[in-house]
Amino acid sequence: MALSNSTKEAWVLYQRKVLGGGGILRRYWHFIHKFYGLLLGFTIHINTIEEGLCIHHYGSIVIGSRVKIGKWCKIHSCVNIGQHRDVEESPTIGDNCFIGPGAKLFGKIKVGDNVSIGANAVVNKSFEENNIVLAGVPAKIVGRHTKEMYS
Ligand SMILES: CC(C)(COP(=O)(O)OP(=O)(O)OC[C@H]1O[C@@H](n2cnc3c(N)ncnc32)[C@H](O)[C@@H]1OP(=O)(O)O)[C@@H](O)C(=O)NCCC(=O)NCCS
Repeated sequence: MALSNSTKEAWVLYQRKVLGGGGILRRYWHFIHKFYGLLLGFTIHINTIEEGLCIHHYGSIVIGSRVKIGKWCKIHSCVNIGQHRDVEESPTIGDNCFIGPGAKLFGKIKVGDNVSIGANAVVNKSFEENNIVLAGVPAKIVGRHTKEMYS
């Protein structure tokens, strides 16, 4: 059945005004996402993290909307990963990274794969090398993984 132009316009207007620009399913998933965020103390934007994320403990974690985090990463509490001056200036983090409690990462930086970031580190520069250990304020390379990564 073909819809007339005015019916299509009315449907688009209804979607924008009543459903907030998306379908019911989209709004449902946003609600679930917000609900669990409030319950667990997380602000983690949708589509920022690939599969296999492990969050060890309950507590505040903030991950900005343009952040990209790879697969199988571990994130501890009080971690904040986000923009610097502008939302486009957000970190990209590789696969299998360990981000210790209280670590802060911000700006248009890149972090490699299998990188461990120590407790309370402030990472404000790129570290694209794989298998390294970062710690301190500002973070520096303090070691390299020779055997199994810290978990
Ligand atoms: C980053 C981390 C994973 C590195 O572990 P590691 O590879 O075994 O490294 P080491 O402990 O041998 O430390 C190497 C050097 O970095 C320093 N260092 C390690 N972690 C540091 C940190 N968070 N801040 C500042 N310096 C740190 C060490 O003092 C050492 O310096 P030195 O060579 O001058 O003595 C670990 O120190 C860390 O921060 N773990 C977090 C633990 C955690 O999350 N606990 C909570 C569980 S609920």
